[in-house]
Formats: sequence, structure tokens, C-alpha cells
Amino acid sequence: MQQGVRIAASVLAADFSRLGEEVRAVSDAGADWLHVDVMDGHFVPNLTIGTGVVAALRPHSTRPFDVHLMVSPVDPYIEPFAEAGADAITVHVEAGAHLNRTLQRIKSTGKRAGVALNPATPIHAVEPVLGDIDLVLVMSVNPGFGGQRFIPSQLGKIEALRALIDASGRAIDLSVDGGIDEHTAGLAASAGADVLVAGSASFAGGQAEYSANIARLRAAGEAGRRAPHGARTRPRAIGASAS
Ligand code: DX5
Ligand code: ZN
Repeated sequence: MQQGVRIAASVLAADFSRLGEEVRAVSDAGADWLHVDVMDGHFVPNLTIGTGVVAALRPHSTRPFDVHLMVSPVDPYIEPFAEAGADAITVHVEAGAHLNRTLQRIKSTGKRAGVALNPATPIHAVEPVLGDIDLVLVMSVNPGFGGQRFIPSQLGKIEALRALIDASGRAIDLSVDGGIDEHTAGLAASAGADVLVAGSASFAGGQAEYSANIARLRAAGEAGRRAPHGARTRPRAIGASAS
């Protein structure tokens, strides 16, 4: 049975002066996953957090930690993040020369393996490794910062990946990251996304608002899923074969 749309709260938008409390609050507010953005100041033009912070946050939530590594080279960091408490580890196609080897290394830690596609990275980059992954992360902004605008051209990529994943028959989560708000949550889910990563929209307004924020994102996502658009509903061309 298909699961509902899941909301991954990106802690990048939390109050870093009290991160443990923030992680507890957003988990209690109904976030399905905690999304953790790790940036190295080299692969992306920003520096965020390392394994020490992930390990310190781990006792504050029972939700899966969805660790997004914007790091290159990435291989040496796989085991440290697995040990720090990641449940899923996602790497970028461009993070190393040997994506298949990197994914095998993630799987060897027993964690879920994900591949992230930058806005300019084509879908075919993920096709050869579909059998090795548990998650595809479509970047709907250029990675590096929270609070950016959703890039609409990524909706077509989400649709195409939805079709590819469905055809594969594998249980691969299709996640979308960047610029997700009430409006774009609906668009992304309608295009076929299962998981919506939201930083600014999850943490807006302080802790009293987190439950309402997450409920709104979930409702928008569920409504989008009920109204799929694009290839899945496009009427067959007149005269096309019915097969
Ligand atoms: C961007 C990060 C995102 C970011 C999303 O590089 O990968 O996860 O936290 O933030 P919002 O939801 O504010 O766009
Ligand atoms: Zn991210």
C-alpha cells in the first residue's frame, strides 16, 4: 500500500543556539523525518554541521535522520555519519568519481542509500544505480542555502523519475528538497514526490507553529497527490494505439 506524503523537516532552518530542543519540538509536531544538511564549503558554498552535531542530536528524536551530504569527496564521511546516527545517507552524483562504489559503501553500513540530483543533473545519471538505492533526492534549488525559491523546471524531472521508479518495481522514495512551501508542496506531490523536505516552511514562526506548519504541508502534499498532473493523467493522443 502506498504511504502518505511524508514531511522531512530540514534542521538547517532551526534555531542553532538550541538545536536539541528544536529537533524535539519539530519531531513532536509531527515531522516524519529529520533532514540534516551537511555542507563542506567546497562542493557547495556554505559550511554547516558535522558528525559531532548529528551524534549530539540523535537522542533528541526517534524519527529517521535523513542525512544529505553536500560534500566532495564524500566516501571518507560515510561510516562516520552512519555511526553518528544517520538512518539514510544521500550523496550527490557529482560528489565522487565512482557513484556505484559510494552507494555500496553506504549499503555496507546497513543504512539506506540515496542519490541527489542537482537542478542541472539529468535523470539518466541515476538510471544505472536504481537497483542500488532506496531514495532519490531531487534538488529543487541549487544546494547550499535554505530559503531559496523553488525551480519549477524540476517538476518535469520529478514526473519522469516517478515513472522510472514505478517501472523499476523497487521501493525507492522520491524526495524533493528546496523551496517547499504550501504551494510548491502540492505541485511536487502532484508530480509524484513521496517526501517533501522543508526547512523554512517547517520552522517558520517558532515552536508554537510547528504542528500547524507540518499539518499544512502534509495537507497540501496529500491534495497534490490526489490530483496528479502530467504524464500520469495526460490524455492519450487521438488515434494512438490502446496497447
Ligand atoms: C539546500 C538544502 C535544503 C534546505 C531547504 O541546500 O539541501 O535541505 O535546508 O531549505 P528550504 O526549505 O528553506 O528551502
Ligand atoms: Zn537538503
